[in-house]
Amino acid sequence: MTNIYHEKDANLGVLSGKIVGIIGYGNLGRPIANNLRDSRVSVLVGLRDDETRDHAREDGFEPRDIKDIIPRCHVLLFMLPDEVVPEVYLETVSPALQRGHLLVFANGYNFAYGFVEPPPFVDVGMIAPRTIGAAVRTRYLDGTGFFSFVGIGQDATGTTWESLLALAKAMGSLRAGAIEIGLEQEAQLDLFVQQAILPAFHHVMTTAARVLLEQGYPPEAVVTDLILSGEFTDYLARAAQGGLLQAMRMSSLTGQYGIFSRLPRFRDLKLEGIMDATLEEIRSGDFATEWAREYENGYPRLDSLLRAQEQLDLWSLERRTLEMLRNQ
Ligand SMILES: NC(=O)c1ccc[n+]([C@@H]2O[C@H](COP(=O)([O-])OP(=O)(O)OC[C@H]3O[C@@H](n4cnc5c(N)ncnc54)[C@H](OP(=O)(O)O)[C@@H]3O)[C@@H](O)[C@H]2O)c1
Repeated sequence: MTNIYHEKDANLGVLSGKIVGIIGYGNLGRPIANNLRDSRVSVLVGLRDDETRDHAREDGFEPRDIKDIIPRCHVLLFMLPDEVVPEVYLETVSPALQRGHLLVFANGYNFAYGFVEPPPFVDVGMIAPRTIGAAVRTRYLDGTGFFSFVGIGQDATGTTWESLLALAKAMGSLRAGAIEIGLEQEAQLDLFVQQAILPAFHHVMTTAARVLLEQGYPPEAVVTDLILSGEFTDYLARAAQGGLLQAMRMSSLTGQYGIFSRLPRFRDLKLEGIMDATLEEIRSGDFATEWAREYENGYPRLDSLLRAQEQLDLWSLERRTLEMLRNQ
């Protein structure tokens, strides 16, 4: 059975006298640094020298160069974009590593795909929040916490679990719960959701908008019904509370009949084939290699894909409708 950890499973005392270095102060680094400090953990923030240092200063930290915090820290949390981690690790972190350092990643990606290969004398763990950075902070403050996946990459000292769980507790994750999983499986799951679910969702929404607009429905009503009303947010929020079946059963009887009687039409799409192929690319490392090459070349394909997306009329309709809704 899978292990799921809660507050009672962790002891904040194991962090006493230890300094946690946060490398990167972006969407996730900022809330994590603030949560840890509010849980009375000693935190140092390591950043390159640009305007992000002002955010850290506004929050009361004294940001320093990444290389300068490493010798003072016992734990190093990598809060950098996935594609950036290998070069920062190789050039700045790796030469300064000492026996007993604990390296913690926000997902399993770089360790699992071998882009980062820590020496055997350090501990390696993962705390991967299952929500966005903003919610990591708000759910810490409101006391509900957030789900995360936790796992160990290597355990040189024999103390990695206790430190990792204490960190997860201090971040606020154990109030909701942390699920144990290997770094490789976490990386694969994360990529699968990004590549097999979100593109399908995007495709369904943009296709539905195109069909309805072509049939002459009022544009503002279409975009509001599909996207801006937040109806899907409410639906998924209900699913997160009580499961997908319960969310479906909370629809009206007309809605339930509509869902279940039309479901078989979508089975004919044979999504399994697309999903199997996507998962295979992820598991083989082909996607990770492709993404590393894309980063090395300066994101040429991503730039042209984003430019193509921006051409869709739907986005200007979204903006216009949002402005109209807010003006009333
Ligand atoms: N975003 C989320 O909600 C979320 C949720 C769960 C997990 N994660 C994971 O958390 C990690 C961090 O993601 P993020 O969204 O927080 O990233 P992000 O917002 O893009 O923040 C990146 C931080 O890294 C710094 N950085 C970028 N390039 C750098 C470079 N070449 N050298 C040194 N520093 C550099 C940035 O500094 P500057 O500001 O100076 O550019 C910024 O402080 C990733 O592993 C991600 O998968 C994120």
